[in-house]
Amino acid sequence: GSAPGDDPGESVPSGPQGLKKGLTQYGDSGFSLFLRKAFIKGAGYTDAALERPVIGIVNTGSAYNPCHGNAPQLIEAVKRGVMLSGGLPMDFPTISVHESFSAPTSMYLRNLMSMDTEEMIRAQPMDAVVLIGGCDKTVPAQLMGAASAGIPAIQLVTGSMLTGSHRAERVGACTDCRRFWGRYRAEEIDEADIAEVNDQLVASVGTCSVMGTASTMACIAEALGMMAPGGASAPAVTADRIRVAERTGTLAVQIARRRLTIDRVLTAEAFENAMRVLLAIGGSTNGIVHLTAIAGRMGFDVDLKALDRMSRETPVLVDLKPSGRHYMEDFHKAGGMATLLRELRPLLHLDAPTVTGRTLGEEIDRAGPGFAQDVVRPLSDPIYPQGGIAVLEGNLAPGGAIIKQSAASPGLMEREGRAVVFENMEDLAARIDAPDLDVNADDFLVLKNIGPAGAPGMPEAGYLPIPKKLARAGVKDMVRISDGRMSGTAAGTIVLHVTPEAAAGGPLALVRSGDRIRLSVANRELSLRVSDEELARRRAELPVSPPSADRGYRKLFLESVLQADAGVDFDFLRAAERRGSLPRSG
Ligand code: FES
Ligand code: MG
Repeated sequence: GSAPGDDPGESVPSGPQGLKKGLTQYGDSGFSLFLRKAFIKGAGYTDAALERPVIGIVNTGSAYNPCHGNAPQLIEAVKRGVMLSGGLPMDFPTISVHESFSAPTSMYLRNLMSMDTEEMIRAQPMDAVVLIGGCDKTVPAQLMGAASAGIPAIQLVTGSMLTGSHRAERVGACTDCRRFWGRYRAEEIDEADIAEVNDQLVASVGTCSVMGTASTMACIAEALGMMAPGGASAPAVTADRIRVAERTGTLAVQIARRRLTIDRVLTAEAFENAMRVLLAIGGSTNGIVHLTAIAGRMGFDVDLKALDRMSRETPVLVDLKPSGRHYMEDFHKAGGMATLLRELRPLLHLDAPTVTGRTLGEEIDRAGPGFAQDVVRPLSDPIYPQGGIAVLEGNLAPGGAIIKQSAASPGLMEREGRAVVFENMEDLAARIDAPDLDVNADDFLVLKNIGPAGAPGMPEAGYLPIPKKLARAGVKDMVRISDGRMSGTAAGTIVLHVTPEAAAGGPLALVRSGDRIRLSVANRELSLRVSDEELARRRAELPVSPPSADRGYRKLFLESVLQADAGVDFDFLRAAERRGSLPRSG
């Protein structure tokens, strides 16, 4: 056996005398092994095949998940890579979670998927696992599950969808979905127009084509060192994507042989690199929640104040929607993560290990010199001078709140406004478009009870619609505040993840229409201009009782879910041993 991390990049001679693990060394080696071999041989395997390193491949393909519509081709290519390197590929299903087919919200199912992933990795014999995910919640769920399972693991994503064309205008999911729907609500476009663009927004299988949560998590996975280099950006339907899959299979055999367990990759340095990247790509706000949950599985907490300090010195360099102009396929043509990491070099831990057996710095060197392109800016000429995400604090959010400042309106970020409050999503749906709603463009829309326990599952309802009468009058953005999340593809002056949430008795529960709220992104402030005495009086008047359920997953969820600042993970899934806070400086 070779030591982990040596002979980087080379494949090691394989054979029965090599690594005797997997099906041959799993659980009881007496009658149980005899039985396992007898049963797997029912599929026609020989002993020689079963003595190879066994590479599990998580198949999350599903008719309900077009974002994973290329799963069959990817699995075939991963298998080719595994077999060319002397391993035995074994694909197996776990649940698949698509954003649009996961009621009440995909986030409600993320932890369930992470448990499925963890337990099936534990339950079945494998020396390493290839995680094939893509759609928003799937990659974090897989990294959370694999982190807890502990074996060597590598992430593959399905890749982004292509952009479409609507009447000669380039469009892609789902920043443009929101833009067109907003125009339709404002009666700027008609029924025929909105019906026609519906055919073009999702032009192929694959994940959303902007820097939404799926693309953000793909970039984060590569920054964590959990992915084949170049694996974040190749679009779903390209030859590059298939080659990444083959290479992933090869790397999976290498990490199995070297016993490069996931804890050797998911280090404090790796998480700090991922945070830098999240900020520099103008990534989805959901990325913070997911990164916190993954780090939590490895025993790390995320210090939001330190993250904010890091944000102040990490400019946004990637010019993608919703913060910028381009789409993921443009990022790929511009060199993808290699181009970004080269620019970010002075801000990264270059000695962080990766699944290639080389360090991140060595991978940046191997990617070679850059070339002229206009998607990734140099550090000296960023598209936004600070990180995409700012952390707010104040009496309205004692546990913090966040705003994607790079996608907010500059004119709305420093102001005081009158609260127009909606108690929950039903209340919002009932009143937001009412002609007699007392609301002006400079009011702050406040939505309660869409936090982790409130909705439940912290749905992406934080992107409150502009009230119809204001939308018709041309209002494009307003300050919006909630304890929920928003889609990574959305833009606007939107304060999210207010912690603790209203349903857990946070101060947000006490806000009433007519209250004054102060937002200052420059000062990182979110405060309710109501006296402590008045808030105490309101609290006594209307005690909050946390939501509960009688049975099933919902009961487990409501009894176990943690707040946004702990990644919305379940309390019993986090690592018992805590190893400190990240980022450590910044
Ligand atoms: Fe799957 Fe956007 S809906 S990535
Ligand atoms: Mg999304």
